[in-house]
Amino acid sequence: MYIALGDLKRKAGSVFQGPITHSISSNRMEKLVITGGQPLRGSLTVAGSKNTALALLTGALMAEGTSTIANVPRVRDVRTLAQIMEFTGAKVDIPDAGPLVVHAERVIFPEAPYELVKKMRASFYMLGALLGRFGTARVSLPGGCAWGPRPVDLHIEGMKAFGAEIDLEQGYVIARAPKGRLPGGSFRLEPSSVGATINLLLAAVRATGPSRIENAASEPDVIVFGEALQQMGAKIAGLGTRTIEIEGVEALHPAAIVNCPDRIELGTFMIAAAIAGPPGGSVRIDNAEHRHLGGAFKDAFARAGIRVDYHDGHIVVHTPEVILPTDIETAIYPGFPTDLQAQWSVLMARAAGTSRVTDTIYIDRFNHIPELQRMGLRARVEGNAVRIEGGQQLTGAQVMSSDLRASVSLVLAGLIARGETHVLRVYHLDRGYENLEAKLRAAGVAIYREQYDEFAMPEPPEG
Ligand code: UD1
Repeated sequence: MYIALGDLKRKAGSVFQGPITHSISSNRMEKLVITGGQPLRGSLTVAGSKNTALALLTGALMAEGTSTIANVPRVRDVRTLAQIMEFTGAKVDIPDAGPLVVHAERVIFPEAPYELVKKMRASFYMLGALLGRFGTARVSLPGGCAWGPRPVDLHIEGMKAFGAEIDLEQGYVIARAPKGRLPGGSFRLEPSSVGATINLLLAAVRATGPSRIENAASEPDVIVFGEALQQMGAKIAGLGTRTIEIEGVEALHPAAIVNCPDRIELGTFMIAAAIAGPPGGSVRIDNAEHRHLGGAFKDAFARAGIRVDYHDGHIVVHTPEVILPTDIETAIYPGFPTDLQAQWSVLMARAAGTSRVTDTIYIDRFNHIPELQRMGLRARVEGNAVRIEGGQQLTGAQVMSSDLRASVSLVLAGLIARGETHVLRVYHLDRGYENLEAKLRAAGVAIYREQYDEFAMPEPPEG
């Protein structure tokens, strides 16, 4: 049955908070202005993992009751997902500090509308959560992404294999469990997918029978998420391996969940420290779970000649005298994370020689390269790889963010560029980095946020 968005809003009543439409006439934007060249001093602290938090939030919908989730970053993606969850009738409290509180007693509309889902692909997790808990869901398809197609076919085929009946109607996935609860089943992911593994776990934990996910993702995000479901009473075996087996249970109970630190922010800060640390000194990074980085990233750091001391809970990056050109190729965990390849390109801009950054997961994720070229980077995109000639002095420029990781790579470039760098459309960065400029400012970087008018034209010179 098709339910109009207006009807849904009226039904949701007071639990629905915040607008779901935006004015398109506004052209006010925010940018970051960075004056390059000052070395980082002291320490940087990593926030809770953004990607894991999104999975944990939807996981909390699986239990009738109130769960808490600690160490969640206050970033825009978290607020967007909270808004989507509130649309269903749940309530998500996001205090300024401390754990988020998810009230999932009263979840009445198994729906996730396009207006919210289009903002963030991870909202597609609502499909598994709603189907798993209610046996029915109506969730908008997420649509495109800044760096090319990002299909959700595996999520849908997996749900079918677990016994769901699925129809596509007016851009929405309508999913039903014929007898109220999914029976469960077996599905092989090809390629392995973080999001599909999480979605299928959500769908399977309350099924009437057993399920199996083959070629499952083994990223730390999946492990931490699966362990939280276990804490809530789910029966899951094989987390961290390629085969995950789930024995469905009647109900889950609420829990006090603790999120892990963000491994992508950790890697980003490690690169910041390597390119902009104090000469002959070091930068300390706190709330660091280095085991989540995966072997390939740490190995690449070592090959680049950068010394890192890894401790429990914190690491120390020693500023290298010379950065060695180091090729990397992204791969699923424990391979080099695709979410760190844009930042790696900035590290390689500082290297003494030529290197190659290849992305095998998202083959055209190179929107940051033309922007970095505006800052003087000598680079050439060749298929799913970019060849970077290191050793050029970057210079400040106005550059445009296009997605979350691309935008942070521009901020990194700004740290080492001569003069001022203006990183436009900083809302991309705000999706996933909590207080980035405050953290960098505390470490001695001249960085501030400014409003600007995107359509404003420069004044022509006089005369
Ligand atoms: C997650 C991360 C994202 C990261 C990515 C890869 C979140 C919220 N996002 O995204 O930051 O860049 O993992 O580490 O955790 N694929 C299909 N069909 C599908 C699903 C995926 O073909 O139905 C393909 C994708 O196009 C891609 C590969 O599988 O080539 C891996 O993508 P996936 O692991 O699903 O990424 P996300 O979960 O979307």
